[in-house]
Amino acid sequence: MASLAGRSSIRHSKIPEFLVGPSGQPMPAVGLGTVSHPFVEDEVRAAVLTALELGYRHIDTAALYASERVVGEAMAEALQSGIVASREELFVTSKVWCTQCHPELVLPSLKESLQNLQMEYVDLYLIHWPMAVKPSKPHFPMKREDILPMDLSGVWQAMEECHRLGLAKMIGVSNFTTKKLQELLSIAKIPPAVNQVELNPTWQQKKLIEFCKDKSIQVAAYSPLGGQRIPKMNPVRQSDVLEEIGRTRGKSVAQISLRWIYEQGASMVVKSLKRERLKENIEIFDWELSDGDRSKIGQIPQRKLITVQNLLCPEGISSVDISDVDVFEM
Ligand SMILES: NC(=O)c1ccc[n+]([C@@H]2O[C@H](COP(=O)([O-])OP(=O)(O)OC[C@H]3O[C@@H](n4cnc5c(N)ncnc54)[C@H](OP(=O)(O)O)[C@@H]3O)[C@@H](O)[C@H]2O)c1
Repeated sequence: MASLAGRSSIRHSKIPEFLVGPSGQPMPAVGLGTVSHPFVEDEVRAAVLTALELGYRHIDTAALYASERVVGEAMAEALQSGIVASREELFVTSKVWCTQCHPELVLPSLKESLQNLQMEYVDLYLIHWPMAVKPSKPHFPMKREDILPMDLSGVWQAMEECHRLGLAKMIGVSNFTTKKLQELLSIAKIPPAVNQVELNPTWQQKKLIEFCKDKSIQVAAYSPLGGQRIPKMNPVRQSDVLEEIGRTRGKSVAQISLRWIYEQGASMVVKSLKRERLKENIEIFDWELSDGDRSKIGQIPQRKLITVQNLLCPEGISSVDISDVDVFEM
């Protein structure tokens, strides 16, 4: 995967950066996720501002999340108040949703995202899922009958156009398996810089990480703490193995999970609305796991939490075969 940035980076934050893409653009190792259940605008706006105060510079959003506008407002406020010195210090990711995953709708969707964000460009623009759904406002769950065959080549050409126009400094994908990446690499003029996927000690994605390393694609972890659903049954935050390692090292379970991800060479986006946790989640760079810790984590049973089926209404039938979207690669 990408290498760590040296001292030349423009972001003067304590969060290290990976050098990503053909021109080696710095991407912070930890960013703030902005999916929030329930979504309360003021809470997310405040979390973005607090994160920026604490030194976060990467904010992850998407057309689907309804968070672009508040992210834009918080960033504008941070720039105005001097918390952030200039736009160049920031790293903003957004994503095109399945309902806009059609060649002619990608650029308009990015333009709408930029308007919401009050920005002239995003640092990273991703195809959210390798799946196309009948055009409409971004939403989920989506009807199975609305799934359409995806024109990956046409959609990627539109992504490349976004980059050429200077509206996306880098382009990439999300939720792509090695098979989907291979398909994309065979047609891309500009290869994807990043693949954002579910990644944590309970879904370790060894095959995908090796593949991406080999192809110089930066892996970015989402749901690095096991996500937001079923908090009492969260496989990462309730893991006995992580808890025991945390106890012996004087670290929290969250920190053990995030440190493990960092040691895989992956960057990550983690969501919290709480100042203490936002701070805790970036205190992972001045210590490391032992070989024994890594080997215990390597034995944790594997379970994928987020699947394409979660995005679809349970009823209905799709005429398009989507069996290759959710390949459980170990
Ligand atoms: N590309 C995709 O398809 C995709 C899919 C899912 C998510 N994402 C992105 O990834 C981001 C992160 O993933 P996620 O939101 O699913 O979940 P996550 O970051 O794995 O976990 C967030 C949950 O953990 C809690 N938390 C945060 N820090 C903690 C700590 N130190 N100790 C204990 N609990 C802690 C948060 O609660 P509090 O807020 O109460 O602290 C929140 O409920 C999303 O927000 C989104 O930006 C992308």
